[in-house]
Amino acid sequence: MSKKLFIETLGCAMNVRDSEHMVAELHALEGYELTDEAGEADLILINTCSVREKPVHKLFSELGVFNRLKKPDAKIGVCGCTASHLGKEIIKRAPYVNFVLGARNVSKIAQVLHKDKAVEIEIDYDESQFAFKDFRTSAYKAYINISIGCDKQCTFCIVPKTRGDEISIPADLIVAEARRAVDNGAKEVFLLGQNVNNYGRRFSGEHEKVNFTELLRRVSALEGLQRIRFTSPHPLHMDDEFIEEFARNPKICKSMHMPLQSGSSDILKAMKRGYTKEWFLNRAAKLREMVPNVSISTDIIVAFPGESDEDFIHTMEVLNTVRFEQVFSFKYSPRPLTEAQNLEEVDSQIGSERLRLLQERHDEILDELKCEHIGKVVEVYFEELRHDGYVAGRSDNNLGVKVKGSEELLGTIANVKITEVHRTVAHGEIVA
Ligand code: SAH
Ligand code: F3S
Repeated sequence: MSKKLFIETLGCAMNVRDSEHMVAELHALEGYELTDEAGEADLILINTCSVREKPVHKLFSELGVFNRLKKPDAKIGVCGCTASHLGKEIIKRAPYVNFVLGARNVSKIAQVLHKDKAVEIEIDYDESQFAFKDFRTSAYKAYINISIGCDKQCTFCIVPKTRGDEISIPADLIVAEARRAVDNGAKEVFLLGQNVNNYGRRFSGEHEKVNFTELLRRVSALEGLQRIRFTSPHPLHMDDEFIEEFARNPKICKSMHMPLQSGSSDILKAMKRGYTKEWFLNRAAKLREMVPNVSISTDIIVAFPGESDEDFIHTMEVLNTVRFEQVFSFKYSPRPLTEAQNLEEVDSQIGSERLRLLQERHDEILDELKCEHIGKVVEVYFEELRHDGYVAGRSDNNLGVKVKGSEELLGTIANVKITEVHRTVAHGEIVA
């Protein structure tokens, strides 16, 4: 009988891809098959996130739960960013954990499995050219890493300390991986990195210097590939060449993530983001002008240390000017190993109130935008069969859309006329 693997993935798309890599290695080298039931697994993995404090608390309570329900001989491994920064502390606090594997050490999963109490968290480790075995959760959309680590030093962010310096994966490896994914039926690739439009600054060893715009051109030249998405670009590196390629290239989906963080130039400086409010607004305006149907999403942190009411008003102004189609908003959470960790915090209630105001205003904007979608025809790639007789997918510009239908729609792209819009999903009808 095969061994069973249960894996829980928290956090960002890069973690999703890291989990796929671990599943692939464990299947090919150790014969593990996936299960949805932690109680019947021989190995339980939690792939953790540490960008905010809450998920870290959640980790230890979850570990306790897994320890109670696991089979007597089953192993538990903690992977990902929290593994990187807490290291052996995890085994101290939860002694039943068998190993700890950092976000930069994913390729060592089959090794640590056999070393009880192993802690592999080296952040200088270079796995930018490691040939992982193949596994994908979705047959339709392929996540592909284009870089590891992050070279920025945003003062609030722990990621450079958990994922290490940025190294780009050679362009020919990325194109070859995309080719394989398309040959296996994926019509869409999703290029991943902490700072994708900084791609090509540093490779390990001698490799052809290719920037992100050129990488997009090469990937889009693949026959059979119909859609390219990517995350996350950095507003600082959104030069004209990049925005023009985004606008001009029909295979690039017209949805852009522009992580604002704050609308105040003073706070942006304290965060070491490298751009000002004016630069951000200028880039967003150029995007909207060149790509009229673009949808822009963002990340915003409220109550960064030192944020005044006036600073917050600047953030609200950017919200009202850009009218983002999607906002991921967070209250600042001090993180260990970051430059901002010891700065005096904004009063917690004030932070919560700002978050509420921001989210309330964003909901109003969404309600206003809703009306604009009705009657429009969008191109949808169907990826998910729902239980209620619907099939769901995403439009080119990232609107979640569902239509009445069955399995045969999966993996197809069709024009859909939008008939109804809710906050998270739109309903539509396929048109010829
Ligand atoms: N390079 C990635 C950032 C990963 S972290 C990107 O640009 O998307 C994802 C988001 O978490 C960040 O954009 C930020 O908005 C939020 N975040 C990071 N550190 C945080 C902190 N200390 N407190 C609150 N939110 C934080
Ligand atoms: Fe974090 Fe800034 Fe990099 S948000 S992941 S340090 S771009």
